[in-house]
Amino acid sequence: MAALLSVSHLKKYFPITAGFLGRRVGEVKAVDDVSFAIPEGKTFALVGESGSGKTTVGKTVIRLIRPTAGDIIFDGTNLSKFKERDLKPWRRQMQIVFQDPTSSLNPRRRVADIIATPLEVHGIGTARERLARVKELLELVELPDKYLYSYPHALSGGQKQRVAIARALALNPRFVVLDEPTSALDVSVQAKILALLARLQKELGLTYLLISHDLSVVKNFSDHIAVMYLGKLMEMAPTQELFANPLHPYTRALLSAIPVVIDEELEMIPERITLEGEIPSPVNAPKGCVFHTRCYARMDVCSLQEPQQWEPAPGHYVWCHLFAVGGDAPT
Ligand SMILES: Nc1ncnc2c1ncn2[C@@H]1O[C@H](COP(=O)(O)OP(=O)(O)O)[C@@H](O)[C@H]1O
Ligand SMILES: [Mg+2]
Repeated sequence: MAALLSVSHLKKYFPITAGFLGRRVGEVKAVDDVSFAIPEGKTFALVGESGSGKTTVGKTVIRLIRPTAGDIIFDGTNLSKFKERDLKPWRRQMQIVFQDPTSSLNPRRRVADIIATPLEVHGIGTARERLARVKELLELVELPDKYLYSYPHALSGGQKQRVAIARALALNPRFVVLDEPTSALDVSVQAKILALLARLQKELGLTYLLISHDLSVVKNFSDHIAVMYLGKLMEMAPTQELFANPLHPYTRALLSAIPVVIDEELEMIPERITLEGEIPSPVNAPKGCVFHTRCYARMDVCSLQEPQQWEPAPGHYVWCHLFAVGGDAPT
């Protein structure tokens, strides 16, 4: 299937300024040369620790922020350099759901007004038509009509996230960025919201970019996974392939944090890998491989040279020196 969204060599550097005149003293390399493609109707997951640049990728690909460099091809059109005026018709097709519905919903507006906002902004329908659409959307996200005129504080976390999802769907988008859509919710609610998102995807033919810090959340939900660290991709593969054959030491560390059910049939229990230290600052990212300072498999070359892309299986990419030499996976 053709890619609905294709991103190549995307960079987003935030300037660091100082003093009264805002002199530029450095930059935060939040996203540093990232490429991937999402086929229409599929879910592409972006996984990594906090601070790795996931949200910045999500906001940049829907052009909430302007990229420093790179191409963002949506349905065949390169949006990377578009100005706000040119973006307007595209805005309807690309939406985002944020992590924390308590801060993404205006506490002083009622549910009906919140969900109708995108329709108003785009000047769609009469007040009456908009209300009918809001009711339709409430039904779509399985929220009873009685909440139409409630304020967000009267809703549970899961219900608030349903309102945020309804708002994101108001304009019938084709592509939705889901930025940690369940991580602010209770565990029991998380599965329900994920099930809702899966049903909506199927019914409406949506394409998702799902952002998460947790591989176990994306395991049963995504078609492809990219593992990100300090602004760069470490590994990218179809979901089954990534879980069956994780290669990058960082991917393996993330996987080992997932609790496993131990049964007798299981020949190998994944080793428990604990990464030492915190993710370094993207202002002064480590030279060579950005992950080398925390890598348990590092070699001399890792602090000197940035690893090249290696494709161990079709569609499976890894950026790690362990594989550059002989092409053999580490044991
Ligand atoms: N508007 C901004 N200005 C300056 N730095 C930013 C801005 N937004 C994000 N950053 C920095 O970019 C890096 C990546 O942030 P983010 O994309 O939010 O990561 P993640 O979503 O993976 O936690 C962080 O170091 C963060 O502090
Ligand atoms: Mg984030």
